Amino acid sequence: MKVTVVGAGAVGASCAEYIAIKNFASEVVLLDIKEGYAEGKAMDLMQTASLNAFDTKITGITNDYSKTANSDVCVITSGIPRKPGMTREELIGINAGIVKDVSSNLIKFSPNTIIIVVSNPMDTMAYLVHKSTNLPKNKIIGMGGALDSARFKYRLAEALGGPISDVDGMVIGGHSDTGMIPLTRLATRNGVPVTEFLSEDRLNQVKEDTKVGGATLTKLLGTSAWYAPGAAVSAMVQAIACDTKKVFPCSVMLEGEYGFNDICLGVPVILGKNGIEEIVSVKLNDAEKANMLESAEGVKAVNELL
Ligand code: LAC
Repeated sequence: MKVTVVGAGAVGASCAEYIAIKNFASEVVLLDIKEGYAEGKAMDLMQTASLNAFDTKITGITNDYSKTANSDVCVITSGIPRKPGMTREELIGINAGIVKDVSSNLIKFSPNTIIIVVSNPMDTMAYLVHKSTNLPKNKIIGMGGALDSARFKYRLAEALGGPISDVDGMVIGGHSDTGMIPLTRLATRNGVPVTEFLSEDRLNQVKEDTKVGGATLTKLLGTSAWYAPGAAVSAMVQAIACDTKKVFPCSVMLEGEYGFNDICLGVPVILGKNGIEEIVSVKLNDAEKANMLESAEGVKAVNELL
């Protein structure tokens, strides 16, 4: 399995690191436009190999896409991250051009690749990759829900005072502060609905904390987060590489599913060797359906800026 990660910034490097540490890929190519930067990050990471016991070969490349040839999975993290006070949507002007360019360069050398889009505003960037390439729809996957769900589980465990490993839950909808829909109704603590443990008020607080998860970190760090985004990408790449058929909420092109068309929005999907193996239909209640509609309207408004 060869994986290319475009963008050797904090998120890209963290993706490469987590993929390597899990030891399922033979090769990770890290590519950046800044001369020598990806080479430096790759060399630093390779010097952790004996310490962290992995055999994945990480190579750094300055802008030469021929070195990415025949990648099974390509991850696009390029573009600018948000600064405190910015929304993900404000990044569209700069990031759209970059993402379009990067995806066409990748496909030139890896026509059969699966692309994972991380750059923000992510749902719109995933939509752009669908519109500007001829990859089949199962091969373009936006990373948002896997990260947002991890943040949801963190907040749920905090509220429950229990371990995160006991918590299961999912965030669907758009990857934006207003678009995320943490499904508290379906979240569980080791099989028991979390609604048995937490009041409606406390659950609403968990929801709000989850939705501003990225913004909270951006305020603390001065730039957007990287560990959890990197870990979320690596978990998705692993599901594809190892054909595990794990379920992750991902931003995927909808053609009638959940009542939407011509939009990339976060819904649960089964990931395996073909990328999106199946979109999972969850029966939503009226309030959740209304939230999905509102979330889709927000994403569509950003898509129109393309
Ligand atoms: C975040 C970015 C990756 O939510 O969108 O941290």
